[in-house]
Amino acid sequence: MIRRYIAFEGIEGTGKSTLAARLASHLETVGCDVLYVREPGSSTTGERIRRVLLDPDGTVAPWSEALLFAAARAQLAHEIVGPALAAGQWVVSDRSVYSSLAYQGGGRGLGVERVRAVNAPGLGDVWPEMVILLELDAATGLARQEDPDRIGGEGVAFQSKVGQTFAALAEAEPNRFVTVNAAQGIDDVWAEVLEHVEARWVISSPE
Ligand code: TYD
Repeated sequence: MIRRYIAFEGIEGTGKSTLAARLASHLETVGCDVLYVREPGSSTTGERIRRVLLDPDGTVAPWSEALLFAAARAQLAHEIVGPALAAGQWVVSDRSVYSSLAYQGGGRGLGVERVRAVNAPGLGDVWPEMVILLELDAATGLARQEDPDRIGGEGVAFQSKVGQTFAALAEAEPNRFVTVNAAQGIDDVWAEVLEHVEARWVISSPE
């Protein structure tokens, strides 16, 4: 069974959500069976947890934050992404477990391996096959941000740590990660994204 689970990752302001939506819509247009999800969220339970996590007026301790992200993700894997992959659907995701490794593991300083360890049991084998890392320096990313949430409002030093952790993760897992320079115009970024996906899988309708 071919598993096609693609996650878009990066710090704030990289155009991740736009590109994830564009890829999902492109795949649909050419006749692929696609599921689009975002993290945290996409399941009913996950969207409830999302509100707790991102409320700008909320208080969430670092490990509480890591565990809530892991909880939302475990629900999504169990209820939605796992079954979709088993049914042969493409899954396109705006963020994934790698955001937790970079933001909570690196940004918050909880440790990548410790954060990986609390996510792994809830995910089983539901890990993205391809992570498209959109690279951008922290100051440029934050300048592009319109309406920061509780975590997006953490500032440039935090975003830099997150970006460095993403880069280290990409280097450690070269078979899973592709990196794209997100400082280019969005159409150029999109062209590169599509090239990477086409290099990995044949894009065609199931019929
Ligand atoms: P998102 O809604 O995707 O916003 P953005 O447009 O900024 O990407 O993500 C919400 C915030 O949650 C974002 O600041 C990144 C953060 N986040 C984590 O800290 N850990 C995680 O595991 C995930 C999925 C997101």
